[in-house]
Amino acid sequence: MVNAGRAAFRIPWAVPNVGKEEASEVMDAMESGWLSMGTRVQEFEERMSEVAERPHAVAVSNGTVALDLALKVLGIGPGDEVIVPALTYIATANAVIYQGATPVFADVQAPSCGADPEEVAQKINPRTKGVLVIDYGGFPCDYSLLEDVCESRGIPLIVDGAQSLGSRFGGKSSLQFGSLSTISFHAAKTLTTIEGGMIFADDVETREQLRMMRNQGEAPQRKYHHAVLGYNARMSDLHAAVGLAQLRRLADILSRRRQIAEYYLELLTSVPGVRLEAGCGKNGGQGNDGRGEDCENGWFLFPVFVNHRDEIAARLAAAGVDTRVCYPMPVYRQESIRNYLRSESVEPCPVAEEITSSVLNLPMYHDLEKHDIEFVVEALAVAVRDVG
Ligand SMILES: Cc1ncc(COP(=O)(O)O)c(C=O)c1O
Repeated sequence: MVNAGRAAFRIPWAVPNVGKEEASEVMDAMESGWLSMGTRVQEFEERMSEVAERPHAVAVSNGTVALDLALKVLGIGPGDEVIVPALTYIATANAVIYQGATPVFADVQAPSCGADPEEVAQKINPRTKGVLVIDYGGFPCDYSLLEDVCESRGIPLIVDGAQSLGSRFGGKSSLQFGSLSTISFHAAKTLTTIEGGMIFADDVETREQLRMMRNQGEAPQRKYHHAVLGYNARMSDLHAAVGLAQLRRLADILSRRRQIAEYYLELLTSVPGVRLEAGCGKNGGQGNDGRGEDCENGWFLFPVFVNHRDEIAARLAAAGVDTRVCYPMPVYRQESIRNYLRSESVEPCPVAEEITSSVLNLPMYHDLEKHDIEFVVEALAVAVRDVG
């Protein structure tokens, strides 16, 4: 999908940042004679646990599976409820449904787009067994308030950190928050293994459970002895090889995204009719949202908010600029989800409704040049002016 966009648009929405270093690392892995899960996966886990600032990391085949296993290891099951933000990718809610549990949607805060701690607190009831949040586009949630809510009610906070690489709150990586956190390494993500995911944990027992669950429930060092019901959720060494090559460039990958975002912000603040995210620490949008200087946006997405969004997106496409709407509706409106909701758990969330009708995600990728950004901003300014 990403490559098709590249061919069709002068400026695509996203371009994977993989090249010779990844290819050479994959070739080395191929020639090593060990292709499936092995030492490269282990090394990738060790390196990622440093990035996440968390003691343990378990690599799996994608970010959705990471969420599925995280909820399973916490014992979430039929009859339970898990609070999720109304504005997220479908996989967050799907993971709850896979457990036979019900997702209960909390509204988000504008314009940071993260779960609103007050809404979360209001939705907690005796059936609530978890609160699963995301950092929309890399903008960190208010983890201090979310932790207070969850700790005071004795409910685990879980961070779906699929979009959280480079996001920091209170001076800590977002992936350090929650009982467990997860990440996705899909090709469109800031750091990719093409497909892949990971779960971050604090204790050895949880790590061992997760390792068994990703490998058909096989007990450690006991080939073909299966202690728990598991899956094939393994990552291959070839995928880990791509991730290891990417990790060597991580500082550059993150700082490039920050520079791109800062240039967008500089140009867009003077464009009438385009609203931006709140400020986050030193690298923010309009104003400060009160999260303080220690907060950092990882800039997975670059969202703007406009009236007549669909018409503006069509005009940008005609001008050669690809965009995305992340996401076109609150998750509780998705057809696939509606059947699984308890009727009392589907109150509309007004902030998520407003965001999903106005959000437009501009091109954001490593090789986006200054003149590309100027082109996008100019095309957006013209579209907003003409659509009125
Ligand atoms: C918030 C969120 N959660 C989960 C996922 C699922 O990750 P994956 O595509 O690796 O399964 C994604 C992927 O885009 C995501 O954005």
